[in-house]
Amino acid sequence: MQRKYAETQRRPIKIMESLNQIKSYIEDNNFDFNELSNELIGWKNGLIIYRFALEEMNTKLKILNEEFQFIHNHNPIEHIKSRIKDPKGVMLKLQRKGLEINIDNAKKHIHDIAGVRITCSFVSDIYDIYHMLKGQSDIKIMKVKDYIKNPKKNGYKSLHLIIKIPVFLSNRVEEVSVEVQIRTIAMDFWASLEHKIYYKFDKGVPEHLLAELKEAADAAHELDLKMKRIKDRVDIYQNVGKDKPLI
Ligand code: GTP
Ligand code: MG
Repeated sequence: MQRKYAETQRRPIKIMESLNQIKSYIEDNNFDFNELSNELIGWKNGLIIYRFALEEMNTKLKILNEEFQFIHNHNPIEHIKSRIKDPKGVMLKLQRKGLEINIDNAKKHIHDIAGVRITCSFVSDIYDIYHMLKGQSDIKIMKVKDYIKNPKKNGYKSLHLIIKIPVFLSNRVEEVSVEVQIRTIAMDFWASLEHKIYYKFDKGVPEHLLAELKEAADAAHELDLKMKRIKDRVDIYQNVGKDKPLI
């Protein structure tokens, strides 16, 4: 108990130190507080629309999944994850692209501020979802990168879409970019591990690990093929069963 108390006591001091650091940085660099605060409010307001876009997407995907289950007796979506890039990430990406850092440039040039990752059981589900999204009249497909038909050299697979979805606000409609990544569970398992390894080695992964990762990607691909074969057999069995209910 004593120790816990001591720890909670220490925390505010740390925060104060960093606040003082920020304050002196602002003073040293002649920052205008009002300007800075307005800019921060501008970023906060500018990015909120991406949260609305993700809510729209989640509703659309939920409906598609449930309707698909109703018609085909199968859920194409295993799970959905969504995220919004934090303002720092957006600013760094603008800087990398050599663009002036402001919210208008972010909206115009950064297409992955809002991201949805959809995980499916089978490769065929990925393309079913893609075609269902493509068929929705309010969604515009801006870009398709098919890393399943054309995997990356390291073995990475997924279907990537950049779409635009309308968000209805009180006084206007805004078309908001969303990056959609669709992959199987096996592809997702591989990608999460590869991502962790990549950052653990600060992007300089040793050759032998790269080779092993490529082998793991091939194994994930084999697993997807095998699962598909099993599913096809189950589907045939179920159809035969329907014709001859007593079997
Ligand atoms: P950014 O990487 O966002 O600048 O975009 P890009 O134009 O290179 O887009 P791309 O569609 O190739 O990749 C976008 C996202 O896909 C990345 O941010 C990752 O989430 C994922 N991704 C792409 N390549 C890989 C990969 O080799 N490994 C893993 N784990 N994820 C990847
Ligand atoms: Mg990205």
